[in-house]
Amino acid sequence: MPKISNKEVNDLLRQRRSTYPNDYSDKVIDKNILEDILENARWAPTHKKTEPWRFIVFQKSRLKEFSAEMMKAYKRYFSQDKWNERKMKKIEKNPLKAGAIIAVVLDRHEELIPEWEEIAAVAMAVQNIYLGCQANDLVGYWSTPSFRTEMEEYLGLNETQKSLGFFYIAHPKDDIVLAPRERKPLDQKVRWV
Ligand SMILES: Cc1cc2nc3c(=O)[nH]c(=O)nc-3n(C[C@H](O)[C@H](O)[C@H](O)COP(=O)(O)O)c2cc1C
Repeated sequence: MPKISNKEVNDLLRQRRSTYPNDYSDKVIDKNILEDILENARWAPTHKKTEPWRFIVFQKSRLKEFSAEMMKAYKRYFSQDKWNERKMKKIEKNPLKAGAIIAVVLDRHEELIPEWEEIAAVAMAVQNIYLGCQANDLVGYWSTPSFRTEMEEYLGLNETQKSLGFFYIAHPKDDIVLAPRERKPLDQKVRWV
C-alpha cells in the first residue's frame, strides 16, 4: 500500500475549512464523488460498533423542495413575532446555492452506550465528510440550525433518530478567496505532564 506522507496528512487536516454558500458555484456534484465521500464517512470510529450515522442526500434537483421545507420548519419552530425576514431569506436562498446537501442523522442505540458517544461518532463521520470534500476540491460546512428538529418528519426519521443538521457541499466559485482562519496556539490547549 503506498504510504501517505505526513505532509499530505498535515496539509489535508490543516487546510480543511468551512466554506459558506456565497462562495459556492452552482455546478452539480457528481454522484460518484458524493458516494466516495460518504464511503469515507462510514469509516469513522464507533464505540460498540453501533455505526450511529445515517445520511440523507439531497442532490441539486431536490434542493428547491429542501429549501421550501426549511422555511416551513423555521416558521413552525419560531412564533411569528420572532420571525426575522433577513434570516428567512438566507434559509430560503442558501440551500439553492449548494451542489448537494447531506442531512446528518444520529441513530441512537440507547441500550448500549451514552448519547454523547454516538454524537461524537457522528461528528467524526462529519469530519471525514469535510476531509473528503477537501480531497475532491469541493467545499462545504456543517450547519446545525436550532429548528432542525422541525425537519425530522420531512426527513422521515423514526423515534430512535435525531437530526444533527445538514452538511452543505459545493464546487467553489472560480474566484473564491479564502479568508485566513485562526486557532489559538497549542500551548494554550495542552498541558504536558
Ligand atoms: C458541531 C458543529 C456545528 C456547526 N454548526 C454551524 C452552523 O450552524 N452554522 C455555521 O455557520 N457554522 C457551523 N459550524 C462550522 C463552524 O462555524 C466552523 O467549523 C468554525 O467557524 C471554524 O471554521 P473552520 O471549520 O473553517 O475551521 C459548525 C461546526 C461544528 C463542529
